[in-house]
Amino acid sequence: MNCFVSFHDETCLAVGTSKAVIGLQKTLSLLLLSLLTLLGLGLVQPSYGETRYKKFQRQHVDSTEKGGNSSYCKKMMQERGMTKSRCKQFNTFIHEDIGTIKNICKTPKIPCKNGKMNCHEGEVRVTDCRLIAGSRGNCRYQGRGSSRRVVIACKGKLPVHFDK
Ligand SMILES: *[C@@H]1O[C@H](CO)[C@@H](O)[C@H](O)[C@H]1NC(C)=O
Repeated sequence: MNCFVSFHDETCLAVGTSKAVIGLQKTLSLLLLSLLTLLGLGLVQPSYGETRYKKFQRQHVDSTEKGGNSSYCKKMMQERGMTKSRCKQFNTFIHEDIGTIKNICKTPKIPCKNGKMNCHEGEVRVTDCRLIAGSRGNCRYQGRGSSRRVVIACKGKLPVHFDK
């Protein structure tokens, strides 16, 4: 029995139909898989391709403003992407140019909170932002400006982590 010639044979039609159904299912699964892949890529996008140095700059460096108050924290925490999935509890912005911050990496090594020996300390102008209330997308912070000692971790002469 050859289905491609005997179109009037019911059995052959049935086989043809189920083949078409299987084909459709395959196409749908493929589409679903592609969709999930795209979604997955979209979800990892924020950190995708961002080096630790770039991330440090995004989260902790603002050379252009003095900051120092709560509205500054609310605006900046949002602008710098730290309120997207949840409100980050605590974050410090350093108000010095990047050269000054990189120079801290040249000072003697001290232990980081995690015990690693790639931290360095220096005195800089900062705004400390502490979460008061809120949920993702709408986070309220208490902002406080000061000149204080900070500890940062460096890798290959570049700051990569804010320790305290
Ligand atoms: C908060 O700080 C920013 C940046 O330093 C400043 O432009 C703004 O005027 C300050 N706002 C208040 C309410 O003090």
